[in-house]
Amino acid sequence: MSDRSPIPVVVNGAAGKMGREVVKAIAQAEDMMLVGAVDLAPSVLGQDSGEVAGCGPLEVPILNDLQGTLVLATQQPIQGVMVDFTHPDGVFENVRAALAYGVRPVVGTTGLSDEQLSELSDFAEKASTGAIVAPNFSIGVVLMQEAAVRAACYFDHIEIVELHHDRKADAPSGTAIKTAQMLSGFGKTYNPSVVNEREILPGARGALAGDNVRLHSVRLPGLIAHQEIIIGAPGQIYTLRHDTTDRAAFMPGVLLSIRKVTELKSLVYGLEKLL
Ligand SMILES: NC(=O)c1ccc[n+]([C@@H]2O[C@H](COP(=O)([O-])OP(=O)(O)OC[C@H]3O[C@@H](n4cnc5c(N)ncnc54)[C@H](O)[C@@H]3O)[C@@H](O)[C@H]2O)c1
Repeated sequence: MSDRSPIPVVVNGAAGKMGREVVKAIAQAEDMMLVGAVDLAPSVLGQDSGEVAGCGPLEVPILNDLQGTLVLATQQPIQGVMVDFTHPDGVFENVRAALAYGVRPVVGTTGLSDEQLSELSDFAEKASTGAIVAPNFSIGVVLMQEAAVRAACYFDHIEIVELHHDRKADAPSGTAIKTAQMLSGFGKTYNPSVVNEREILPGARGALAGDNVRLHSVRLPGLIAHQEIIIGAPGQIYTLRHDTTDRAAFMPGVLLSIRKVTELKSLVYGLEKLL
């Protein structure tokens, strides 16, 4: 056991699918301590976050007051961290609030626009406070993205299909957009047309991101989070695929980010920058 104080962590969205998994992971991490749990769902207000997460009582009730909970995190021996897995509509304000209190955000919620990311980045820089925003905390996904970037040197036709459960609010997924961004900036335009293409139904050919990478979103009950990167060239198809079969897949990346964010003084976007 280390003689350093454990990192105080607030989980925002503690009753959600990801939030519950994060509460469990923090309860098991010796170098972290859950000091606050926040969620806006009225049905869980006041309930023990550990009981809601299914890992037994932790004596940290779920509250609906983020600001008050952030204050708690500032009263600890070392600077606290806020993990946010909430909703695209609220994440920007949550992160701003955490930075204003000097609590370091680790953000998994997707849907932040480029403008919002850049504003949060400026805010973190000015506050000299670390922050991590990662559209995907799965290390397997980062490795898949890196393999695609390597392939991009040799191939010009790349389309991404992302498949998620039907309760996902944003499309395309933050991971798909991030993958397209990682594939861009190499001085090429992907998917040059070889015919005069006509979309009979709008959207049939997907959305364009980065340097013309095509993105397609599938939403179905039964899915969790899946992504295929399909790379084509005359005579060959190279397919990279990652399947998340359990949300536990994201936890090593989340815990790594909680540890790393305490060493940062600005905002880092993407788990790949921490590996
Ligand atoms: N980065 C990653 O690796 C990763 C992985 C999975 C999901 N996600 C993203 O995380 C987010 C949450 O996903 P989920 O599957 O856990 O969703 P969920 O709907 O199961 O959980 C969200 C929880 O947040 C609560 N909530 C909503 N707005 C809030 C707010 N403003 N303040 C406090 N609580 C609020 C809801 O009541 C709910 O309990 C989504 O944006 C999803 O795309 C990211």
